Amino acid sequence: MVEIDASTKLLGLIGNPVGGSLSPKLHNHLIQQMGMNYCYLAFSVEREDLAAAIEGARALGVNGLNVTIPYKVDVFREMDGVSESAEAISAVNTIVFKEDGELYGDNTDWRGFLKSLEVNGFHPGGKRCLVFGAGGAARAVLYGLVRAGAESVLVANRTASKARELVEELEGSGEDTELNSAGLSRLPSRSKLAEYDLFVNATSVGSGELTRESVWEPGFYSCGDQVFFDLIYNPDPTKFLRTAANRGAKTIGGLDMLILQGLESLRIWTDVEFDRRKALSELREILEVC
Ligand code: ATR
Repeated sequence: MVEIDASTKLLGLIGNPVGGSLSPKLHNHLIQQMGMNYCYLAFSVEREDLAAAIEGARALGVNGLNVTIPYKVDVFREMDGVSESAEAISAVNTIVFKEDGELYGDNTDWRGFLKSLEVNGFHPGGKRCLVFGAGGAARAVLYGLVRAGAESVLVANRTASKARELVEELEGSGEDTELNSAGLSRLPSRSKLAEYDLFVNATSVGSGELTRESVWEPGFYSCGDQVFFDLIYNPDPTKFLRTAANRGAKTIGGLDMLILQGLESLRIWTDVEFDRRKALSELREILEVC
């Protein structure tokens, strides 16, 4: 175990609430594995204290912070500079406190998403995808799919206007992916949906109070070649994934994405490259929720 001493560097998470977060366990495990002199803590911050918390962290020499719900968008405004991806997603989940005092914001959610597809054998290039949701999580997913060269992405959301706005915003990103939007109640026909390769749940339906719900029930056609991905990692599997698995589809839960976006943040802060497969197999066990 790495001992905390006067030169221990501090990393952490800000959000509200943070009590159920798996990030401290995840990061401190990796820190221990690499024998690095870092420590990762979670801080619950009230909205009115957000700017003061970031400024205080800077003044204390904190090295990096992750940002979680509900501050990924608010924090964006506090940054001196942001990465191209954070700019496109309009959200920051990784703050780097640079040596010159500048605050740099990055987003590792989309990379975690793409990498979790990759380690589970799905390559989105040239594929037809359907993303449920149009909030911050869906935005990172859509950006990732566009960057990976998906053939098309349909964004389906309860509030159709939000899906339309999201598509309009990302349409200008210069990539070739065909983007469309729809309300949840106006999805394409079953025979059309049978042609899709990937279905992603990026809504909150399936967790918390909505644990018994699924944003969409796959139809009765064969979905043997289709992949269903849920960003939710608790419960695992969600109803969305259970139903799809029962119909013979391949399913991927949100835990790998959580782990891989965390690895990516840690790499940005420490410049250390981790053995992704080893980290995944260890952390899947350590963080298993249910
Ligand atoms: P996040 O940052 O996690 O994406 P968010 O921005 O609050 O969170 O977005 C939540 C997403 O879940 C939205 O797409 C929301 O749909 P609306 O835009 O119509 O609100 C979706 N969502 C939440 N509850 C839902 C429900 N009961 N049925 C369908 N979609 C729901």
